[in-house]
Amino acid sequence: MTTATLGRVTIPELQRLKSAPITTEPQRRLVAVTAYDYTFARLLDQCGVDILLVGDSLGMVIQGGDNTLSVTLDEMIYHTRAVARAAQRALVVCDLPFGSFQQRPELALTSAVRVLKESGAHAVKLEGGRVMAETVHFLVARGIPVVGHIGLTPQSVHALGGFRMQGRDRASAAQLLEDAQALVEAGASIIVLEGMPMPLAQRITRTVPAITIGIGAGAACDGQVLVLYDLLGLDERFQPRFVKHYLAGADLVRQAVATFADEVRSGVFPAPEHTVME
Ligand code: KIV
Repeated sequence: MTTATLGRVTIPELQRLKSAPITTEPQRRLVAVTAYDYTFARLLDQCGVDILLVGDSLGMVIQGGDNTLSVTLDEMIYHTRAVARAAQRALVVCDLPFGSFQQRPELALTSAVRVLKESGAHAVKLEGGRVMAETVHFLVARGIPVVGHIGLTPQSVHALGGFRMQGRDRASAAQLLEDAQALVEAGASIIVLEGMPMPLAQRITRTVPAITIGIGAGAACDGQVLVLYDLLGLDERFQPRFVKHYLAGADLVRQAVATFADEVRSGVFPAPEHTVME
């Protein structure tokens, strides 16, 4: 799969790439990163990131919560609007937060319509497998692209007994494959596979026609996603096995701010070049 020749990344184009026979072009996996604000979204878009996911992980990395459950639809729309303003090329996907879609398909439609109208996102993501298939179908039939999310679904943290890998035994692996198939039959075009063994993610990726985006699911998916702040190493305390810090971000930020503080305290900043005299 390659997006090298794409202008704006669209769902139909991604679907065409997954179903296209492999040509002479080398395959390239899709790149997704979470984004929550305009400035980072602009940088990620300039880097050619294919999918900007405004994840409800913002409840943890932006708001400092222990989980994602308290995030509201208004908060998701607020952050997604900033991200969508920056995205020239990337597909912008907004998470439907906990409590904004589970009750019934009509509620999910109301939430998803608000997201698309008020934020400028191109698709919504919702957590859950077969149990959400009716809702996915309801949205897709009404013109709303839906990204599924199965495996370690953070909105079910209490039911799962923590942020735990899923699909480690035969029964739960079979259930997850069935969940993926149900979501695809309902019309989901992309499915996030989170926190599951690589062979299971590989099997799902090979079995279903939807694009799979993995996080903590090994290298066999059609693409990978990381939470931006994890990728940048902004919290050095958080380094589970599936995360790679591509920057010592926490140290770099602390060094920069400490230097600023030193220069302010010692009178070095602002210097004449930062100062208007008349
Ligand atoms: O909320 C989020 O950021 C997510 C990704 C980690 C997949 O759902």
